[in-house]
Amino acid sequence: MSLQKEINKRKTFAIISHPDAGKTTLTEKLLLYSGAIQIAGAVKSNKIKKTATSDFMEIEKQRGISVTTSVLSFNYKGHIINLLDTPGHKDFAEDTYRTLTAVDSVILVVDSVKGVEEQTKKLMEVCRLRNYPVIIFINKMDREGKYPIELLDELEKSLDINVRPLSWPVGMGSSFKGVYNIYKNTFNFFRSNKTQIEDEDEVKSFNGLEDPEIDSVIGHDAIRLREEIELVDSIYDNFDIKDYLDGMLAPVFFGSAVNNFGVKELLDTFVEIAPHPLPRETTSGMMEPAEEKFSGFVFKIHANLDPRHRDRIAFLRVCSGKFERNKFYHHVRLDRDIKFPNPANFMAQDKSLIEDAFPGDVIGLYDSGIFKIGDTLTEGDSFMYKGIPRFSPEHFCEVRNADPYKSKQLEKGLNQLTDEGLAQLFTQNPGQRKVIGVVGQLQFDVIKYRLLHEFGASCTLSPINGYKAVWVKYANKDDIKDLTGFRYHCLFQDKNDNMVFIPDNKFTLQIAKDKNPNAQFLVSIEHNDSTLEMEAR
Ligand code: G4P
Repeated sequence: MSLQKEINKRKTFAIISHPDAGKTTLTEKLLLYSGAIQIAGAVKSNKIKKTATSDFMEIEKQRGISVTTSVLSFNYKGHIINLLDTPGHKDFAEDTYRTLTAVDSVILVVDSVKGVEEQTKKLMEVCRLRNYPVIIFINKMDREGKYPIELLDELEKSLDINVRPLSWPVGMGSSFKGVYNIYKNTFNFFRSNKTQIEDEDEVKSFNGLEDPEIDSVIGHDAIRLREEIELVDSIYDNFDIKDYLDGMLAPVFFGSAVNNFGVKELLDTFVEIAPHPLPRETTSGMMEPAEEKFSGFVFKIHANLDPRHRDRIAFLRVCSGKFERNKFYHHVRLDRDIKFPNPANFMAQDKSLIEDAFPGDVIGLYDSGIFKIGDTLTEGDSFMYKGIPRFSPEHFCEVRNADPYKSKQLEKGLNQLTDEGLAQLFTQNPGQRKVIGVVGQLQFDVIKYRLLHEFGASCTLSPINGYKAVWVKYANKDDIKDLTGFRYHCLFQDKNDNMVFIPDNKFTLQIAKDKNPNAQFLVSIEHNDSTLEMEAR
């Protein structure tokens, strides 16, 4: 099959939501429709979580939070769909943002009772920055939620995106009857069914909204349905696929994931309209997926897939050309050619060896410590993929070794965990004082747990006052005379020997900026270190 045909078959996306809106439930139902799993409840009963790609860590199970990002591939109606799952908890938002660099579109799940929540907004901001096409699924219509019009209004106002409902609910909660597909003129009857996928018999077709059959099928609700759809048509522009693909317009569906309701409609529309693998930006311009030479980038590193081994898996998004097993590829940062004898993909419950992979695919490469987030593999070229964000940590702890016989293990552990992007490591010289910085507090627990269980290293983590980590750029040493002279106790080096200033508070930062006017104080650095983007405030 030609490269272009392979590209056209693929759709790579992520489901994002505020925790508890129903992301896991929807994921499971999508797998059910694809035939990738046979029983509903597989995800909830933790079967998938235990055997495949997410939630391996004890800590996740204890806390019931999906800390890790998993990759699931499945086939549906001739398409190969790569679903990148993301942690919902805000303390792991960084992981989610990185994962979003590897997708081409997004499905946003919103709880009909709660409406737009804090994480919904934050995640959508990232999608808006990158102009990702977004489909919105309003979940839990079987509960007494907000009025649909009110929800749409809220979505537009707080997410800064135009919306267009493609289906419309009749009733909600205990009087929820089903949804009317505005474009196909079909009515999908709601049945509470948690274990089976929807039956085609439950979908009825009509000759437009005026069809009297509608009255006999849904009774007196038909009048309200007509009025509401008329209202919707007058408020919202027609659905335009180009606007959707440009990230300007989000089609909206209503349903109930736990009841398998509205999910098929969502999936069918998704495969019809969602984009194929898109071009991506590199340090030497845009890279088209159809470019013959293979290239891709690492957006996630996962340790300890199998708790008995200490191997890591680097997740690589294929961006162009064809990846082949056992072929030498150029690791740009290390300037080395490397081949991969055991690349893996992730089909629902299983991880399996693959011979090749195409743009849009996410493959797992066994990593003996050669990869960092943002690394690029090519067929010899030396460009790097851009746009993989690194966040400025806002919580800091000083690390002290608690077992003098295990200092090597601690060092190794800290190095590996920071390569994975779980935290950032800052060292102060002289003195070798080590501070780790994270975006969310919960990451400290994960670090401590993993250092102990994976590396046998125990440490104490003592919180230190830190406003944020600020990278300092300067042309010559005179530009930072005040910093090195008076503020040296707040100066550190990151793993790449860049100077990092960790002020106690906002005012210390401002004073340092005033006293060192020729230096730049920056946050948000990309993983391949090419760009420091924003001025620190
Ligand atoms: P998340 O991944 O976004 O965090 O959410 P998840 O799917 O775990 O769903 C959160 C809760 O919402 C679950 O209930 C789930 O069953 C419920 N839920 C999902 N979809 C629907 C829906 O359409 N209607 C209703 N009423 N509930 C829904 P739980 O009590 O936390 O777990 P469980 O005991 O049901 O397994």
